[in-house]
Amino acid sequence: MKIDIITIFPKMFAPVLNESIIKRAQGKGLLKIKVHDLRDYTRDKHRKVDDRPFGGGPGMVFRPEPIFRAVEKIVASGKKPSRSRKCNPKVILLTPQGKKLDQTMVKKLSRCRHLILICGHYEGVDERVRKNLVTDQVSIGDYVLTCGELPAMVLVDSVARLIPKVLGKDESTHSESFACGLLEYPQYTRPAVFRRMAAPKVLLSGNHKLIEKWRKEMALKVTKRRSQYMLKYIKLKNWGTENEKD
Ligand code: ADE
Repeated sequence: MKIDIITIFPKMFAPVLNESIIKRAQGKGLLKIKVHDLRDYTRDKHRKVDDRPFGGGPGMVFRPEPIFRAVEKIVASGKKPSRSRKCNPKVILLTPQGKKLDQTMVKKLSRCRHLILICGHYEGVDERVRKNLVTDQVSIGDYVLTCGELPAMVLVDSVARLIPKVLGKDESTHSESFACGLLEYPQYTRPAVFRRMAAPKVLLSGNHKLIEKWRKEMALKVTKRRSQYMLKYIKLKNWGTENEKD
């Protein structure tokens, strides 16, 4: 997968993209991320990306020209004449007005070949960008951040881990057990008793059936406690049938 990120703060991305699993994914060629400085797509000597809103009012608005130019250049560079299938990337604007990112959306995005992310700022982006360039608007939650850079990183991280082979064997086995939508069950490791706090006996029992049962119960409990909303998406059936076979 290829991800292009358009931002006025390109330096914000290096610490996140050059660490851990995302770094490894890029190293293996599974993910190609390119960060573009929006100012490189301006044509005036001050490299101005924003202006006052028509009609007055506070704040500044991103001008349409540099954003259109950046996206068009990225799209053009991705189109190889030999390739018969047209590369139609998703052009995603990170904005609090967007559709809320959830695991279903993340899964869909992880199947795309090319994403272009636009990090919004200031009072917003010229509406012509939203209407004529952007294909999707995404919010990472019902709160307002100072910029779209952190949301872009959240999106990249959540999508990258679902690209085949990005997660190592151990990591993916773990995540797959929760593909049904439940939150994680509590985990314990050595020592069995720490400052008089004991790990649950069942986990030390060696009885895999009981351990599995306990984990399912705990995952349900945690999920219910943390988010009633998520329960709608749990595919309880899968676990039910697994159980019956035992
Ligand atoms: N920009 C500012 N706040 C945001 C949010 N919650 N999601 C996406 N982009 C944003």
